[in-house]
Amino acid sequence: MCAAHKKQAFRPGTSLLQEPARDLDYGFLTHYPEKIEMITRNLLIAAASMVVSVGTAGAAEVDASAAEALLKKSGCFKCHAVDKKRDGPSFKETSAKYKGKADGVDKVTKQITTSPKIKVDGVEETHDALKTKDAKDIRNAVDWILSR
Ligand code: HEC
Repeated sequence: MCAAHKKQAFRPGTSLLQEPARDLDYGFLTHYPEKIEMITRNLLIAAASMVVSVGTAGAAEVDASAAEALLKKSGCFKCHAVDKKRDGPSFKETSAKYKGKADGVDKVTKQITTSPKIKVDGVEETHDALKTKDAKDIRNAVDWILSR
């Protein structure tokens, strides 16, 4: 074989052997940390969305009959209904008012546990409180109102 042929035969072999190896090196060193970062980020996002879905599942588990019984016992339906305005706003209206707002639970809890002053037909009254001190029952009633 003459020298020119040897060179030609050698070149393609070299490039086949070297280029994939260089690609592998390049990819490994340059993208590996990025990949780890991406995987970590995805794991964090997955973990966060799991927490969110557990959170919503918790809020959705309202004991409706317990809430209605407590509101009935506390006289709330004298002034409120689920979907009609009476002296007080309907619970649907309150639920819509606080939809997507972080302070809904807090505001409603205060309204129905701390006996704030309200106006009924222009006359100042004390707003009734739930007839219970049980935090779990109060939260259940609040969640029920906010999910009408
Ligand atoms: C005497 C009538 C009356 C009774 C009884 C009454 N409410 Fe109300 N309630 C009102 C009025 C009037 C408002 C509106 C007050 C305002 O806008 O300042 C109101 C407001 C509310 C709100 C809306 C709070 C907000 O932040 O928008 C909720 C929820 C509520 N009441 C729940 C209850 C519950 C639960 C009970 C029973 C423990 C109850 N109410 C008993 C008259 C009443």
